[in-house]
Amino acid sequence: MCGIVGYIGHRDAYPIIIKGLQRLEYRGYDSAGIALYDGENTHLSKTKGKVDDLKQKTESSISISGKLGLGHTRWATHGVPNDVNSHPHFSNSGDLVIIHNGIIENYDSIKQALIKRGYTFESDTDTEVLVNLIEEVKNKEGVKLGKAVQIALNQVVGAYAIAVFDKNKPDEIVVAKLGSPLAIGIGENEYFIASDASPFIEYTNNAIYLEDEEMAIVRIGKEIKLRKIKDDAIAYPNILELQLNLEEIEKGGYEHFMLKEIYEQPRAILDTYRGRLLADKGIIRMAGIDQNLEKFLNANRIIIVACGTSWHAGLVAEYIFEDLARIPVEVEYASEFRYRNPVITEKDVLIAISQSGETADTLAAIKLAKEKGAFVFGVCNVVGSSIARETDAGAYTHAGPEIGVASTKAFTTQITVLTLIALKLAHEKGTLSQSKYHEYLAELESVPSKVEKALLSNPIVEEISNIYKDSPNCLYLGRGYNFPVALEGALKLKEISYIHAEGYPAAEMKHGPIALIDEQMPVVVIATRKGHYEKVVSNIQEIKSRKGRIIAIVTEGDVSVRELADHVIEVPETSESLSPLLTTIPLQLLSYHIAVMRGCNVDQPRNLAKSVTVE
Ligand code: AGP
Ligand code: GLU
Repeated sequence: MCGIVGYIGHRDAYPIIIKGLQRLEYRGYDSAGIALYDGENTHLSKTKGKVDDLKQKTESSISISGKLGLGHTRWATHGVPNDVNSHPHFSNSGDLVIIHNGIIENYDSIKQALIKRGYTFESDTDTEVLVNLIEEVKNKEGVKLGKAVQIALNQVVGAYAIAVFDKNKPDEIVVAKLGSPLAIGIGENEYFIASDASPFIEYTNNAIYLEDEEMAIVRIGKEIKLRKIKDDAIAYPNILELQLNLEEIEKGGYEHFMLKEIYEQPRAILDTYRGRLLADKGIIRMAGIDQNLEKFLNANRIIIVACGTSWHAGLVAEYIFEDLARIPVEVEYASEFRYRNPVITEKDVLIAISQSGETADTLAAIKLAKEKGAFVFGVCNVVGSSIARETDAGAYTHAGPEIGVASTKAFTTQITVLTLIALKLAHEKGTLSQSKYHEYLAELESVPSKVEKALLSNPIVEEISNIYKDSPNCLYLGRGYNFPVALEGALKLKEISYIHAEGYPAAEMKHGPIALIDEQMPVVVIATRKGHYEKVVSNIQEIKSRKGRIIAIVTEGDVSVRELADHVIEVPETSESLSPLLTTIPLQLLSYHIAVMRGCNVDQPRNLAKSVTVE
């Protein structure tokens, strides 16, 4: 969940680490810290709060010189966010310093044993336990740091990406990974360590992503050598040439990343189907599907696993796959699926959806399905991520880096990829007539320009946001394909504006939630023309009779709902199955404006992290 940055080389480490932490701050941001080795001593600066707070504190309190350093932005798992619990952590002797992303599950028993042997602890973290375990092993066994890290890691249960150095051997940093991501950037006589490549992209395009259970000694003047933590076997590094560009990870004139990412959706959707959708030729080309077509066509069912917004994209996909390709689909929360002894057979295809490609529960669900012999397909945004590597095949969404914690363009591009797959399978299976198939392809091709039009609703959405910004509750209703959109709209509002919001299938209202309706309750209803329109109009009437305030998302030119609703927001007409790509746009904008008006930190909402690498 946290962001890790390290540097060793010939430049000043401090500015590289601070800038890197700012780029990674979206990953976790309750506290931050930095350790710098100035040639003699390691100086530590840590604080609760943001990287900007750390910057201020550091520059006024410690020497910021040094060519070796480690930095961390934390998402607390063990111990409240405060200065002491922030990373980096020293070992008892003060020689070793560590940063850690993840959880050491058996930290307490190790801690008790270390206390018995005379170790003391300043913080409540599992991380401080690990660094002292490493120190004890190093002293007891008389081994070098790399070996000590390896022995210690073989005693811990949990997940980690760690970086450690010893001030008595300042030409190396030891890194290791299990579960949490870790990349090494390779420069000229310098190395960068980070949770993803964004902190070092302006210095080098060459990077190694550690695999699970791998460690490396990153030593100046030496090539990187990878080892398997368990059995010390040599692993061969795969040096990737990265294609990330700097502009993509900066705000580009927008006030927040979230707004930038909302506005990027027309391009992101286009990039996602570019080269795959050849509408005029009637072709959908996707390597991951083409090479595994039989697996999909012979599948008994498709199981989709994901979390959060990606799970909502999975729900939309359930409608598309069943409706168009007539394949039975089950959509599961990865966290539930992995622990409930699910029935999985070799005839099942599991699709894992994840923006980050690092979500711990989704990864675990993949591993489980693979063990049971299912074919596992990934839909990820982050290239080279753990899920992308763990799956048998996959299709990337080409949304570009999504920095705002609230997922926006990842959602619409996930739906785009899943729609392409469903259409391809429907065509192969013959469950869709030729003419319908061609109609869908043309319609999908027109989505980016329709999303542009949907974005024009921004000023109206802003006005509506101003009216409802102080409401303590909000309901979101939709039917069919737009039921998952209602769930997603509610999630967006809660996560960034801290307003309690619930999404429901519109017809479920009568079975409970209708009791909540009064003149104070804003109800956002998705009431587009194609798809249960009359039924939704009746649902709106039911809410109106109980004096609820209706904000309706309607198709351009709608008349009936306009007469009933307090506010209408128009989106262009499209087929029912593609409508989530449009109806979700005003809901993203609504949550964005309300959050801004309430003074919330839109890009880094409280308690959240972009990439949830702990279960
Ligand atoms: C979305 O706005 C959330 N912040 C969150 O629900 C997210 O979608 C979820 O954690 C899954 O992440 P992933 O797509 O990276 O796996
Ligand atoms: N478990 C560690 C802690 O609570 C690391 C958390 C993180 O990944 O930020 O300090």
